[in-house]
Amino acid sequence: MILVTGGAGYIGSHTCIELLNNNFDVLVVDSLDNSSPEALKRVEEITGKSLTFIEGDVRDATLMASLFKDYPINAVIHFAGLKAVGESVAEPLMYYNNNLISTLILCEAMKNASIKNLVFSSSATVYGDPQTLPLTEDMPLSATNPYGRSKLIIEEMLRDLPAADALANGDNNWQVALLRYFNPVGAHPSGKIGEDPSDIPNNLMPFITQTAVGRRKQLAVFGDDYDTIDGTGVRDYIHVVDLAKGHVKAVEKLLSAEGIDGVQAYNLGTGNGVSVLQMVNSFAKENSIEVPYQIVERRPGDVAACYADVTRAQKELNWQAELGLKEMVQDSWNWQSQNPRGYR
Ligand code: NAD
Ligand code: UD1
Repeated sequence: MILVTGGAGYIGSHTCIELLNNNFDVLVVDSLDNSSPEALKRVEEITGKSLTFIEGDVRDATLMASLFKDYPINAVIHFAGLKAVGESVAEPLMYYNNNLISTLILCEAMKNASIKNLVFSSSATVYGDPQTLPLTEDMPLSATNPYGRSKLIIEEMLRDLPAADALANGDNNWQVALLRYFNPVGAHPSGKIGEDPSDIPNNLMPFITQTAVGRRKQLAVFGDDYDTIDGTGVRDYIHVVDLAKGHVKAVEKLLSAEGIDGVQAYNLGTGNGVSVLQMVNSFAKENSIEVPYQIVERRPGDVAACYADVTRAQKELNWQAELGLKEMVQDSWNWQSQNPRGYR
């Protein structure tokens, strides 16, 4: 059984589908702080399979200990956390409290239960302001905001576990995959689940879909004077279904005889850079719907371009993204147009 923290969220719910489709038993723990139980109901509808859901906070040590006692868990995927960069600048303590303490409590419970297979949701944000592209996993790491710093601190904390285990037990049993996501977009092709930001979206794709559906007047394009193909920011967008499949591959690797040697980071992206205007134009063309936009000032803290070298994930996880820009924009719109108000 796989314990999925934050499994009701955007990436977590898509990953539950892929886990169930691959015949894993799934136990979700989620506080529902940033998600709806409806997402998990729809996961069950889509797969025709059931999962176990416990509403609760990963920072609750008693709860976490009881989960490892009561369920036959072999590995954990840890999605639970807060993820809005701007909010993290305003409320850094809230971000450190949630992201760091949840991971700490989780790892203590795992250690006590001797279940040491972990897949952690990291982010391309740990590369800070990239100096060379494409980004490989061994490039220098830095943080430009508290959210990014929380991911970086967690990565560092997890890196300390194998040596400690070897000291205590003569042998290390921790296997930790740090999955560094680039820019997740898209939705399940059924249109039943997708990204449902509770506030005004910070990220590009939900802003585009909410503009297209009429909830926002127009998209603000943050800067057209970057040194990129058309002056707008370039990112490595990855379809959330591909990303979810990457988690299944990582879990399979941890549970295989070969395993992972201690802690290893993997970039999950497509390796392709797409500009803001390329994304907007592709969305408009594939869905035959206009997206009104206006060029405005650059957003502070943004980098010009960011995309992944995905060789390590290809070689070691036997994973690569299969879906392109067309599927990303079509599936994002399919979800938003069927669910104009998200799960509400
Ligand atoms: P999300 O907000 O949709 O999902 C996170 C889930 O965790 C939510 O369901 C929320 O209710 C739950 N949660 C939060 N704190 C909790 C706690 N203490 N205990 C239990 N549940 C808790 O976000 P997402 O986009 O699915 O992101 C999942 C993970 O991936 C996060 O760790 C995020 O930082 C990371 N990540 C996301 C992106 C992205 O663009 N979406 C990019 C890189 C990394
Ligand atoms: C943001 C976060 C990053 C996080 C990532 C994935 C910031 C500074 N960085 O990065 O830490 O890991 O999301 O969750 O917030 N854009 C517009 N108009 C919009 C929104 C975005 O033009 O309304 C542009 C941005 O300038 C950027 C691109 O679209 O060039 C993508 O933006 P976004 O989706 O916010 O992702 P990132 O900037 O990569």
